[in-house]
Amino acid sequence: MEFPARRTAVVTGVGAPRGIGRVVARRLAADGWSLGLVDISADGVAEITRELTDAGVEVSGAVTDISSPESVAAAFERFDADLPPVVGLVNLAGIADPTPLMDLTVEGWNRTMAVNATGSLLMIQAAARRMIDLGVGRIVNTSSITAVDGGGTFSKTSYAAAKAAVLGLTRGAARELGPHGITANAILPGPIDTDIMGGTLTDERKAGMAAGIPVGRVGTPADIAAMVAFLLSQDAGFVNGVSYQVDGGKHIN
Ligand SMILES: NC(=O)c1ccc[n+]([C@@H]2O[C@H](COP(=O)([O-])OP(=O)(O)OC[C@H]3O[C@@H](n4cnc5c(N)ncnc54)[C@H](O)[C@@H]3O)[C@@H](O)[C@H]2O)c1
Repeated sequence: MEFPARRTAVVTGVGAPRGIGRVVARRLAADGWSLGLVDISADGVAEITRELTDAGVEVSGAVTDISSPESVAAAFERFDADLPPVVGLVNLAGIADPTPLMDLTVEGWNRTMAVNATGSLLMIQAAARRMIDLGVGRIVNTSSITAVDGGGTFSKTSYAAAKAAVLGLTRGAARELGPHGITANAILPGPIDTDIMGGTLTDERKAGMAAGIPVGRVGTPADIAAMVAFLLSQDAGFVNGVSYQVDGGKHIN
């Protein structure tokens, strides 16, 4: 099914000034998408919404907790009213958790699962309801290389488990939504220089991390945006249920 001429991509996790979400939103705007922007940070949503509006992009921002069904429903009601049909969904909002396994509490575990895994599910359900009516859609979920290697300094077991859940969620969505013309794929970023890694990385820390990466550098949000842009494109309609490591070759299987 052809994309409608005017179409919206909903992107979560656009609040952090140095995060991946904003760079993805800018890239998709350049590719002709209208944008529904989601984040729990009110200031963050306002800032990027203003920036893109000023740049002439058709955009609507919704302050949303993606782990809350009511909050997600309200966001999509706003996008229904403000924007062209939702054809794309990019689940980028997430939280890290560096708690060691033996110190994990049920509360902490549940929060990490709620945002990273349940939040992605709720966003998919709301978006796919619209996409099914259109007969076409593209979904990109964000797992992490941590789902494969079990974690490191900035995130450990609960995050690894939640990001592994995102892979199963993606595969299930790919099977169940594929018949409706909707694809679902996952990206597993390696180390990307954003504040999720505890703040701005020093040059020394970056050099240490780069030493373990064949291409010799840590990743940038633009590296992730390029992959997202392809997976959201009309041309990617036969790519479904795939997990892409975007990590400079850090984890070659
Ligand atoms: N940066 C990396 O090295 C890296 C590596 C692997 C995976 N990832 C994943 O990529 C995604 C983006 O990472 P980033 O580095 O840009 O992170 P970031 O911390 O810079 O941004 C995450 C955004 O998610 C938002 N958010 C958190 N909880 C939310 C909630 N309940 N509802 C709505 N929004 C919420 C935050 O406000 C923030 O704006 C995340 O899912 C992360 O786990 C990042």
